[in-house]
Amino acid sequence: MHLLEERILADGCALSDGVLKVDGFINHQIDADLMYEIAKEFKKRFADITYNKILTIEASGIAPAVMLGYCMHLPVIFAKKQTPKTMDNVISVKIHSFTKNKDYDVLLSKSFLNKNDKVLFIDDFLAYGSAALGIKNLVEMAGAELVGMGFIIEKKFQNGGSILKEKGIRVESLAVIEEISAGKVKFSK
Ligand code: G4P
Repeated sequence: MHLLEERILADGCALSDGVLKVDGFINHQIDADLMYEIAKEFKKRFADITYNKILTIEASGIAPAVMLGYCMHLPVIFAKKQTPKTMDNVISVKIHSFTKNKDYDVLLSKSFLNKNDKVLFIDDFLAYGSAALGIKNLVEMAGAELVGMGFIIEKKFQNGGSILKEKGIRVESLAVIEEISAGKVKFSK
């Protein structure tokens, strides 16, 4: 997605440890027009599959997921990182974050996901794939079917994409980064 790559080059900041800072348009301040273009691109890329629900994880996945939900007129569920008192029918998985080097729980209510659901997962980053694999387990625990996963940015050098594809998951990433070095971002051709 040319528009997204241009924006990453213009406003993203490559940090020394392989982390890309994009908080001016994705992770803190959100460019809603860009998010809308991102959602339209996801809609196009997943046009060949059928899904009735969109799933993401709070916080940064919510914006692209909701935009896609708006484009597709579909409900959007966001898995939570904390249990609200009002939540019932809860299922959860533990996920290890390599970026933050800590474990965290991700949970959702089975009231919103069941065996009749075909789920498309959307998130901002694909790094090592641990969050995505946790979500795969969570969807299976709910008895639903995971039909694909879409990411705004994939860091190919951290191998999450290969891991998910080896498990037979359909993955679409709108900007694929081959390498981050010396403050420079190199995209896959
Ligand atoms: P993984 O799930 O693919 O294995 O990645 P990891 O655990 O390392 O990622 C944990 C968090 O860090 C996720 O957000 C992920 O989106 C984010 N992340 C990973 N790589 C980058 C990067 O290069 N740049 C930025 N900006 N974020 C990255 P999170 O903790 O769930 O945060 P949020 O969704 O609440 O913002």
